[in-house]
Amino acid sequence: MITVIANLKGGSGKSTVTFNLGLWLQMKGQPVVTYDLDPQETLSDVAQVRIEEGATPPLQVYTADDQLEEKLCYHPGQVLVDVGAANMQAMKAAIRVANRVIIPVPPSQPDVWATQRFLKIVDETLNGKERPELVAFVNRADTHTAIRESDEAEEALNMLGPLRVLTERLCQRTMFRRTLSEGMSIFELARRSKSAEEFENFAIALYPELAK
Ligand SMILES: Nc1ncnc2c1ncn2[C@@H]1O[C@H](COP(=O)(O)OP(=O)(O)O)[C@@H](O)[C@H]1O
Ligand SMILES: [Mg+2]
Repeated sequence: MITVIANLKGGSGKSTVTFNLGLWLQMKGQPVVTYDLDPQETLSDVAQVRIEEGATPPLQVYTADDQLEEKLCYHPGQVLVDVGAANMQAMKAAIRVANRVIIPVPPSQPDVWATQRFLKIVDETLNGKERPELVAFVNRADTHTAIRESDEAEEALNMLGPLRVLTERLCQRTMFRRTLSEGMSIFELARRSKSAEEFENFAIALYPELAK
């Protein structure tokens, strides 16, 4: 299954989600490869940190983007693709072969607008071809429930059209940031934390068949 994690804006959490989801899927016994198609190469860097830290299993990260569509379709297990607007050609190639596109959206109006524009690009890219499942969710949500931005962003996403909007949000939490700096998944860093519970719920919403 090819899952593309994408949207137009940087800093929305694509690499954080790809890294933690890849390790979660491996934890569930799934064969996983990832593709890092963002010139920033955050995912490649974090996989390298993971190796240097001696954490196991490692996360397989490919960076090649020539003949991308063929390569993505070649893997039998779970394929996660981290791609941003800095490489539009790769983004479009990945979208053409994707079974699912996951779109992390920080709770702000510019991010909702960018998501709307991204959906337009998806449609132009598919050009009538069958649409992959499109899933958006609020990432970096405020932990204070009194702050309304995340609810508002979720409501706005619900009005954008052919999009499944998860109610399972990820909050803005230091532990998620630390997963990237330490090369460890949230389950390795803080197994019994609120963050791990949040990520587990998010992942199960995406892969209900892998619930224990
Ligand atoms: N839910 C979150 N809580 C806290 N920090 C986050 C969260 N999601 C992303 N970040 C942090 O925000 C920064 C940008 O995230 P990243 O995953 O690199 O975004 P992208 O790949 O979309 O550019 C990183 O420092 C990352 O650790
Ligand atoms: Mg990134």
